Amino acid sequence: MCGIVGFTGTIDAREFLLDGLSRLEYRGYDSAGIALVQSDEASELGIIRVKGKIADLREAVAESDLSGNCGIGHTRWATHGIPSEANAHPHRDCSGSIAVVHNGIIENYAQLRSELIAKGHEFLSQTDTEVVAHLIEELYSGDLLAAVRATTAQLSGSFALAVLHASYPDTIVVTRNDSPLVLGSYENGALVASDIPAIIEYTRDVIYIGDRDMAVLHSDGTIDCYDATGVAFAPKTHHVQWDLESAQRGGYPDFMLKEINEQPRVIRDTLAGRFDSATGELVFDELPLTAEELAAIDRIYIVACGTSYHAGLIGKSIIEAWARVPVEVEVASEFRYRNPIITPGTLVLAITQSGETADTLEAVRLARKAGAHVIAMTNVVGSRITQEAQTVLYIKANLEIAVAATKSFLAQVALLTLLALHIAQQRGMLSKEQVSEIYAEMQMLPEQIEWILANSDQIERCAQECVDATTALFIGRGVGATTCFEGALKLKEISYLHAEAFPAGEIKHGPIALIDTEKGTPVIAVATQSMTREKTLSNIEEVLARGAKVVAIATLGDERIHEMTNLVITIPPISEFLSPITASVPLQLFARAIAIARGCDVDQPRNLAKSVTVE
Ligand code: G6P
Repeated sequence: MCGIVGFTGTIDAREFLLDGLSRLEYRGYDSAGIALVQSDEASELGIIRVKGKIADLREAVAESDLSGNCGIGHTRWATHGIPSEANAHPHRDCSGSIAVVHNGIIENYAQLRSELIAKGHEFLSQTDTEVVAHLIEELYSGDLLAAVRATTAQLSGSFALAVLHASYPDTIVVTRNDSPLVLGSYENGALVASDIPAIIEYTRDVIYIGDRDMAVLHSDGTIDCYDATGVAFAPKTHHVQWDLESAQRGGYPDFMLKEINEQPRVIRDTLAGRFDSATGELVFDELPLTAEELAAIDRIYIVACGTSYHAGLIGKSIIEAWARVPVEVEVASEFRYRNPIITPGTLVLAITQSGETADTLEAVRLARKAGAHVIAMTNVVGSRITQEAQTVLYIKANLEIAVAATKSFLAQVALLTLLALHIAQQRGMLSKEQVSEIYAEMQMLPEQIEWILANSDQIERCAQECVDATTALFIGRGVGATTCFEGALKLKEISYLHAEAFPAGEIKHGPIALIDTEKGTPVIAVATQSMTREKTLSNIEEVLARGAKVVAIATLGDERIHEMTNLVITIPPISEFLSPITASVPLQLFARAIAIARGCDVDQPRNLAKSVTVE
């Protein structure tokens, strides 16, 4: 989704704005721009916008004489109006002295636009955002904060806004509703951005403001916060632990490969401190639910979107198997519109890497309204979901930049596995011995992933065989099937190769018709050790008999699979419910290798955004 940055301080704002926007490139965008209060005290703001990349914007800025210590910037991901320079932000009012950058969607923009046109305002873009600049102009009578407040009172929909006015050369006014904004300051001034990566180099102490709250950033680094009625409040500061290295590629050709390689550490961090060998129990201090309360749960809903939803599907299998509680996994955008059955025994677990996905947030609000206890599982300290849920479990993925989630997915699955163990133990379904045995096996996971990473040439070889395919099928059973859902998603989102995943037993009920004997349609089969491995092998025989090119993910030492296909990716042996954590890694590398061979930008796939903050 779109990215916002803003800086006011004692030094030139251009570098921060351009660097900040570069750090938000991963969110996905099609055009970009900046606005500055010009040093020469001109009554008009200086604005430069381009359709295309930040590198083009940087070039355009370098060629201009634009400079100033106070400015805002934006990367746009088109919603209303095509990607073009005219539709790129910042947008101006008629006088050119007010500039606005916006994330979100102004739902009543059409009506506001007609009213403003009737009053003589001239619009230059097709965007919903431009109404904000004209409305501020209309309502301004010497007090910018008051004009912005009066403007947002008329807006419905979601917005994060940063506003600049030529008469306020040291000031940025910001506000938000259902779209993220993060504020901070350091010795040279005050900063605002839609996401932490843009400001992490300058400060790790960040401020979030609530819906319809406003903040005024001053060049001396002070930030004044006000609620929607104009009453000042002292904001709470959150300390972000993420390291700066996470925001840099660190010698890797792309963030995706870097993040895949970070996974052993991520799993180690996830496991650290979660097991108390003295008591033989899992440690979940964040979870306020007692053993009695956990025993009283009769249903768990997991709500999530995209990759987080796939983690939820794996979580379902493990929680049901170990804790014996029924779990329903729902895509958040469906859950929120279907009046789910929530009783006093219902627990809702919302999984979201970013903590800002609009549909997941709405699902949480609905669940809380219905009286459910909501646990949020997220990667981002202080994100919106942490303010909406009663309980927060943080995954330890650190900052994830590549749009295609990898390390956050593994961290989610690992934490879900630990949570399943905890719930099972508290409900008396697993003994201390069983729990410590499984935990001990989990401690082997980081080394196993390291082994897979060190042996990635086998994955590369298999990927090269599939580069020219037009469709790929993924099959597996049990947690192997859900691992396949994520594998297929990774492949389609970064390589644009059509891919679908099915429980292997379903293949004969339709998908097998997609196998093209002549072309040898790739079928990627997760056939690791499991209760149903034999059945999966039969399904592999079926697709082979129809001319499929089978790439098998199999356990090291499995001789039978080598007799069936010469495209085998081996992984170390691990028990079935832990296998998604290792089996997902070759699928990530497989997708990446195909995407690279097809000339795709793996970090910023077309049309996708890292976090989807609009519905
Ligand atoms: C977007 C991203 C996906 C992500 C999904 C859910 O579609 O491109 O990678 O899985 O949003 O995001 P969340 O932050 O809620 O996990």
